[in-house]
Amino acid sequence: MLVSAKEMLNKAKAGKYAVGQFNINNLEWTKAILLTAQELNSPVILGVSEGAGKYMCGYNTIVGMVNGMIETLGITVPVALHLDHGSYDGAYAAMNAGFSSVMFDGSHYAIDENIAKTKQIIADAEAKGVSVEAEVGAIGGEEDGVVGSGEVADPAECKMIADLGVTMLAAGIGNIHGKYPENWAGLNFDVLAKIQEQTGTMPLVLHGGTGIPEEMIKKAISLGVSKINVNTECQLTFAAATRKYIEEGKDLQGKGFDPRKLLAPGVDAIKATVKEKMELFGSVGKA
Ligand code: 13P
Repeated sequence: MLVSAKEMLNKAKAGKYAVGQFNINNLEWTKAILLTAQELNSPVILGVSEGAGKYMCGYNTIVGMVNGMIETLGITVPVALHLDHGSYDGAYAAMNAGFSSVMFDGSHYAIDENIAKTKQIIADAEAKGVSVEAEVGAIGGEEDGVVGSGEVADPAECKMIADLGVTMLAAGIGNIHGKYPENWAGLNFDVLAKIQEQTGTMPLVLHGGTGIPEEMIKKAISLGVSKINVNTECQLTFAAATRKYIEEGKDLQGKGFDPRKLLAPGVDAIKATVKEKMELFGSVGKA
């Protein structure tokens, strides 16, 4: 059964570890992530961007697929199905379809409008037992074609949004989606410490989990980050493994044209990436 992200993230915050949000794009990724979480006895959050939602034939299809897998694969660890960077309308569509968690990304609105819209979503989500993530300070990089510039959030604004009763808060601290440039300044830990001071027990979310050095991840967790989002890294490892398989020509021999065989190396690569991240984030054995 799908659960809201609230309990798993509150536990992670108290226990000083982070739960991974792994974005899904298709059936194979979803199955690989769920099986790895179960094997490692780790809670997990499946992230769905609005673009990936359209690609996978809409939120109803995704809810049906994930619930079916949880039942058929015998998944007993806590699983949250979470809309990633949702618009206002998107958050309602996902909630109505049965998502157990939504992000409303109001970071591009003026703070007053971000607050008003976030408040409304929280009220409606609470009635359904759905957890809500809000964002302050746009995360840089590209997400579904929208390019942000990597702002650093204002801790006072973070407190304002946290006090509305959101379940978890994403705050920009110099992190960006996708690969980090050579000259990246790194995460701004001074600001993260101030945000943590202002928001207390609120689980903080780190977007752009791909390519952040291990020591920075560990430090961010020690400063209150309890959810870390990973997308690009799974895409990179999946693509590299699939490409290697094709280049080796194995798909041209025997039954290599069978999609179940063709995609198998990529699926194994995703499982390995998810395992590595869950170990780094400290969520193994925490289900
Ligand atoms: P990456 O694609 O950089 O891993 O970021 C994922 C993310 O933050 C999704 O919201």
